[in-house]
Amino acid sequence: MKIAIAGTGYVGLVTGVCLAEVGNPNVVCVDIDERKIERMKSGISPIYEDGLEELMIKNYELDRIDYTTDYKSAYKDADVIMIAVGTPERSDGSANLDYIKAVAKQVAQTITKDTLVVIKSTVPIGTNDEIEKYIRKNLVNDVKVELASNPEFLSQGTAVKDTLHASRIVVGVESEWAKDILEKVYSPFNQPIVVTNRNSAEMIKYASNDFLALKISFMNDIANLCEIVGANIEDVAKGMSYDDRIGDKFLKAGIGYGGSCFPKDTKALHWLSNYNGYELKTVKAAIEVNEAQKLKLVRQASKLIDSFNGLKVAVLGLTFKPETDDLREAPSIPNIKYLIERGANVVAYDPIGIENTKKIFKDTISYTESIDEAIEGAEICFIMTEWKDIVNYDLSKYKNKMKRALLFDGRNCYRLDDMKNLGIEYYSIGR
Ligand code: UGA
Repeated sequence: MKIAIAGTGYVGLVTGVCLAEVGNPNVVCVDIDERKIERMKSGISPIYEDGLEELMIKNYELDRIDYTTDYKSAYKDADVIMIAVGTPERSDGSANLDYIKAVAKQVAQTITKDTLVVIKSTVPIGTNDEIEKYIRKNLVNDVKVELASNPEFLSQGTAVKDTLHASRIVVGVESEWAKDILEKVYSPFNQPIVVTNRNSAEMIKYASNDFLALKISFMNDIANLCEIVGANIEDVAKGMSYDDRIGDKFLKAGIGYGGSCFPKDTKALHWLSNYNGYELKTVKAAIEVNEAQKLKLVRQASKLIDSFNGLKVAVLGLTFKPETDDLREAPSIPNIKYLIERGANVVAYDPIGIENTKKIFKDTISYTESIDEAIEGAEICFIMTEWKDIVNYDLSKYKNKMKRALLFDGRNCYRLDDMKNLGIEYYSIGR
């Protein structure tokens, strides 16, 4: 079976590599960026993802996977074409399907045999129906084409592991033919396969992400209340987690969720719901709590100092979560903007996110790859991401190196007692 994959972002590339890894002999990844394709052929991943490059090199050498910009040769005789291009957010919150439609057009113009087109990208409910109609209408050759929804549940930072050991594979199909093909594609993974119709599969993806976003926002809301009434959110989360119905994951309060998925997918489902005349109140609440949460600590800090103007402010951790170099929708961005607008001299630290941060803030802030350097002489420090080296940092250094040991921790990296014993002014979330 030949499998072509459109798009080599987190979903497309990791899916392609993992399909090759479980033994598919003919996987081809398509992207429009020539330079990216050349680099992938030499085993260089365009994204930072643990364990990915080893598998890229191994499977390329085994001749199971190839990379190309030549979509015609990739699609024309493929049995399955997986679409894994981005669906970014439009200014009104709706999902932009332009990239999906561009691939659909290429597919319609090139396929020469019966093909199953699988949408892996996160798309609004009804998109598979719409794209199927579009491709059929624009087909150049007399072949059968059908769409299937197969949403992806991998997380950045653990993408390879999540794909090889997924909790479930969701397959949204409208025929036995499509179901059989996808069951064959995924059988080597040995994971539970949930078969639904296409609309339900599309909804499963949004509902899963939005539920997790809601879970985080709920905990952030409770954390804010904990601060007011003298409770501790970590103890509260622990006490809740033993109930199997609640579970122990995604209960961590902080300065809000970021990344390329939760912010976009909550807004997109809320938009879709409004568009259909229904108000999704829970998801709206998740979005609102998250927006407010992001600037919680800088606002709190501004009440404790006269002004940020001219102050050296250290910001530790810039990416939207640890183990990724991605800054999309990272809480660090609005926080740094807030600080710059108020005249602070921001020194930003991240173990691997500096290059991407420079693209956003250019020379308006300073950058360092050393925590020591970031906090030296600083009058305030904000922690935005719980990188291991930040969590394991020698706490006495905050006391010894900073001009004023005033620390705002958006990820609850440290114990309250330790900070108290060291005489550090320490503010965290919900405790
Ligand atoms: C998320 C989902 O977890 C994946 O299942 C999904 O496939 C993916 O979106 C997607 O749609 O492609 P991801 O955005 O990579 O994955 O990252 P998460 O690990 O879910 O974290 C998202 C944000 O939530 C981060 O900013 C993280 O700091 C925050 N978070 C997470 C919390 O604030 N508290 C928690 O307890 C957990």
